[in-house]
Amino acid sequence: MNEITIIKPDDWHLHFRDQDMLFETVPATARCFERAVVMPNLVPPVTTAALALSYKERILAARPAGSTFMPVMTIYLTDKTSVQDIKDAKKAGVLAAKMYPAGATTNSDSGVNSLESLYPVFEALADNGMLLLIHGEVTQKHIDIFDREKEFIDQHMVKIVERVPHLKVVFEHITTKEAADFVLSAREGVAATITPQHLLLNRNDMLDGGIRPHNYCLPVLKRSTHQQALRAVVKSGSPRFFLGTDSAPHAKHRKESDCGCAGCYSAWSALELYTQVFDELDALDKLEGFASFYGADFYGLPRNTETVTLVRESWEVPSNITLPNGELHCAVFCW
Ligand code: NCD
Ligand code: ZN
Repeated sequence: MNEITIIKPDDWHLHFRDQDMLFETVPATARCFERAVVMPNLVPPVTTAALALSYKERILAARPAGSTFMPVMTIYLTDKTSVQDIKDAKKAGVLAAKMYPAGATTNSDSGVNSLESLYPVFEALADNGMLLLIHGEVTQKHIDIFDREKEFIDQHMVKIVERVPHLKVVFEHITTKEAADFVLSAREGVAATITPQHLLLNRNDMLDGGIRPHNYCLPVLKRSTHQQALRAVVKSGSPRFFLGTDSAPHAKHRKESDCGCAGCYSAWSALELYTQVFDELDALDKLEGFASFYGADFYGLPRNTETVTLVRESWEVPSNITLPNGELHCAVFCW
């Protein structure tokens, strides 16, 4: 098969950043995605309905002419988020709230320290038909970084899912067999997003033969057995797993640094990279469900109706992108 046409996909997890960067990131995503769930980890974070609405306006203003692309807005949970904040967000059309354990990843300093006190907020999300999106890693420094996702499942995820049985939960950017197994056997209303880098790469691609900072993201790449487990679940066609690129641009000098930051900017090539994975797995017939159906179904949104056609041909992804202010960004991880 050298060409496939599928319903236009959506990206259920990405980072657009703000201001001038939007004129780079929004067109990159609108190129082949109809909707995208926009992460709220700006500085300061998008914690309220009002902030989400103004951020949405800035995103819409950065769409290419004629684009029908629509951002799906989220708010950022902190220790101070109240039930009223959730009600206000619902009224403003915000569909989901993102929970970052404090310090887990880029711009998560204002994240949640005490999960226990957030249960009324989780209940409010469920009562209002909103989703809880979770960055599922513990932040305890004594826990090995490669085990932090598994630890989060054992310490928190099981409890959240059980204690709020009517809450829809997305386990974001899963990276381990344990997470895939957890989602597969969880109650209804639990799903996961998977990034292109976690399907295409494992930790050897980050550390073997030299450190490759452009392959550093969080949760960090794991050993190949985990990569294989993720590839197996997308090949299975389970509707619990859907596309979320976690596209997360950073200036080149901030990644190539003594203490390089986490995040891979994949928007310019994400759909093609996922397609490559499904092709390698001899499962191109499962791409459309993963990319275009299961996320919309889980969020309770209509499926898209337009189509996109993917053609098999070689293509050099640009490795750098220069912004109008001269700043250099990396376009893709090393692949
Ligand atoms: C993301 C970012 O840069 O905002 N980085 C990353 O490594 N994925 C944050 C996140 O989703 O963890
Ligand atoms: Zn992310």
